[in-house]
Amino acid sequence: MEIKGRKAEVLIKEKDIKEKVKELAERISRDFEGKDILVVGILKGSFIFMADLVRELKGKVYIDFMQVSSYNTSMESSGEVIFVKDLAQDIRGKNVLIVDDIIDTGRTLKALVEALKQREPSVLKTCVLLDKKERREVDFDADYVGFVIPDKFVIGYGLDWAEEGRNLKDIYCII
Ligand code: HPA
Ligand code: MG
Repeated sequence: MEIKGRKAEVLIKEKDIKEKVKELAERISRDFEGKDILVVGILKGSFIFMADLVRELKGKVYIDFMQVSSYNTSMESSGEVIFVKDLAQDIRGKNVLIVDDIIDTGRTLKALVEALKQREPSVLKTCVLLDKKERREVDFDADYVGFVIPDKFVIGYGLDWAEEGRNLKDIYCII
């Protein structure tokens, strides 16, 4: 496959993603047993993962979305997040699961969790499909992780390269 004149090869096959999504949903359903879940997707990259994940969850599921952007100073990412789009509801007392496509430095997700904790949800957990562990710059891990991947640029299954490639069924890495 080629994208923007670069070669891309399959890193994770559609079938393996499907299996992993089911496995994650089973763990989450067990951990949230008897509780309603408010699944919060982080736009735009999580939209396909979230759509598949919520259909495998048991119990009552509500959904909402946020779009965040990390606040970059001239030198480095400060770890502050700007809410481009905030939640449409109050989360006080709710059981919240944040769903994101990928974690790398961890700065954005950590700052987001800290900001949402201030709103006093009853439960606040995080789920990511991909984890570039080698890139971590802060002490933060997601509660549910699909695949730990090497530090290569990936596209597909919601992840983009300058807005291209989100609709690919497999996850590819650019080589
Ligand atoms: N691909 C697409 N989007 C991303 C990546 C990646 O590898 N890492 C962080 N955002
Ligand atoms: Mg992107």
